Amino acid sequence: MAEDIEKILKKYKQGRREDLIPLLQEIQSATGYLSEEAIVKVGSHLGLSTTKIFGLATFYDQFRFFPAGKINIKICNGTSCFMNGSQAIIEKFREELRIAPGQTARNGNFSFDIVTCMGGCFHGPVILVNGEYNIHVRPEQVPDLIKRLKYIIEND
Ligand code: FES
Repeated sequence: MAEDIEKILKKYKQGRREDLIPLLQEIQSATGYLSEEAIVKVGSHLGLSTTKIFGLATFYDQFRFFPAGKINIKICNGTSCFMNGSQAIIEKFREELRIAPGQTARNGNFSFDIVTCMGGCFHGPVILVNGEYNIHVRPEQVPDLIKRLKYIIEND
């Protein structure tokens, strides 16, 4: 993980502050989340305080600061999915799992993230559950989906 971070930082040799978001995005896609170590390293690379980085990163829904759960759900909130009701889906997951986007349940079983456009705009709202797309999702389907996923976890 530390090597991944170093490798990515080397790509942004100039250490420009405008590279912050792409840098964080790359680190997250390589390591799965933004660890404290990653934030500290990025901070010293760009000459920014960790508080500033954390503050900026939390402004974006796309970043997570904990490892994902055993089951990670990605909910599209791109324009088309938004128009088709993705907010209600996000709220339902928040309510059912009792976690916010980017957080992981205490038992480590579930996490969910908000993403922008997964390329299925005509079928929104779209969610991705452990690599499998679910389309035209309605909020009332969420409790059953979670029940099924819990069953999978328990019988794995
Ligand atoms: S906006 Fe959700 S898939 Fe494109």
